Amino acid sequence: MQEIGILGAGLIGASWATFFAAQGLKVRIFDVDDTVKQQAWEQSVRNLQRLADLELLTREDAATAEGKLKVAASLAELLTDIEYVQESVIEDYAIKADVYRQFEQHAPERAILASSSSGLLMTRMQAVMQHPERALIAHPFNPPHLIPLVELVPGEQTAVETMETVKAFFLGLGKHPVVLNKEVPGHIANRLAAAVWRESLALLDAGVASVEDIDAALCQGPGLRWALMGQHLIYELGGGAGGYQKFIDTIGASFEAYWEDMECWSSIPESAKQKAVSGTQDYLNQKSPGEWAAWRDEKLARIQQILHEEP
Ligand SMILES: NC(=O)c1ccc[n+]([C@@H]2O[C@H](COP(=O)([O-])OP(=O)(O)OC[C@H]3O[C@@H](n4cnc5c(N)ncnc54)[C@H](O)[C@@H]3O)[C@@H](O)[C@H]2O)c1
Repeated sequence: MQEIGILGAGLIGASWATFFAAQGLKVRIFDVDDTVKQQAWEQSVRNLQRLADLELLTREDAATAEGKLKVAASLAELLTDIEYVQESVIEDYAIKADVYRQFEQHAPERAILASSSSGLLMTRMQAVMQHPERALIAHPFNPPHLIPLVELVPGEQTAVETMETVKAFFLGLGKHPVVLNKEVPGHIANRLAAAVWRESLALLDAGVASVEDIDAALCQGPGLRWALMGQHLIYELGGGAGGYQKFIDTIGASFEAYWEDMECWSSIPESAKQKAVSGTQDYLNQKSPGEWAAWRDEKLARIQQILHEEP
């Protein structure tokens, strides 16, 4: 697949455009909002320059990648003769269904449609398609041009070959695809994030600690390990010579007591929303959101340089 269509060019679409162009692929960008698609092109160019500043791309490759980015005048122009489309429109079943119908009017029959959806079910979205076998979810983590994870999720009608083709495609581009055997709302990573977020809100709502300290308790502790290994491997090591079984036998009951005490909300109480929004302003205000994003991206790049060091 040499030419990629970016369908929906907001926060995630612009970052995907950067990623594919940086990998040497031609990229066409489209959004219903003309201003947004132009801004996505500009943002991608800035992202490429930043990747060069961080020495993740040479200046020459960044300039070549910039030349690969084109804004499509219409949806038909985006989709004519396209091989792969990364859809990143608003997270809404009705809007996605409408976009998938239009996709089939203009795209070749062999074109693959990959959705960035953070947690919708592909079975429901592909139900409107004549050729649902070529649609799947390829969910990135923000920002996709810097974070390697992509979750591949089939719907009930997705072909095995589509999953295999897209997995091989992303592996070839240096991403880290994980494949779900069956769809669940929120895939894997956002369900894990949802569990941590709910408890972060509950601790705040109960007055246990401030926003800043709750976030620090993640970043300065478990977050550092999470860049290297997940919960299963961490607890294998946590059991010492006895491994995971010993950890479960000796510490499992303590965790069960924490679970007993923890909230199981399925909606966020107003009080928690207000405390989270106002508490976060205090430390957000140390930098503008743009400065925070640039700070994050630079550190993310450095973490990945360390992770890719041998052995
Ligand atoms: N924000 C995140 O952290 C994040 C992370 C991973 C995945 N995602 C997923 O990516 C998708 C996009 O999220 P986002 O944060 O970039 O949203 P966004 O609001 O920044 O961008 C969505 C874009 O879709 C465009 N759009 C709406 N209808 C359209 C149509 N019919 N045709 C073309 N464009 C249309 C909008 O104009 C808008 O620019 C969602 O499915 C979301 O779940 C988001």
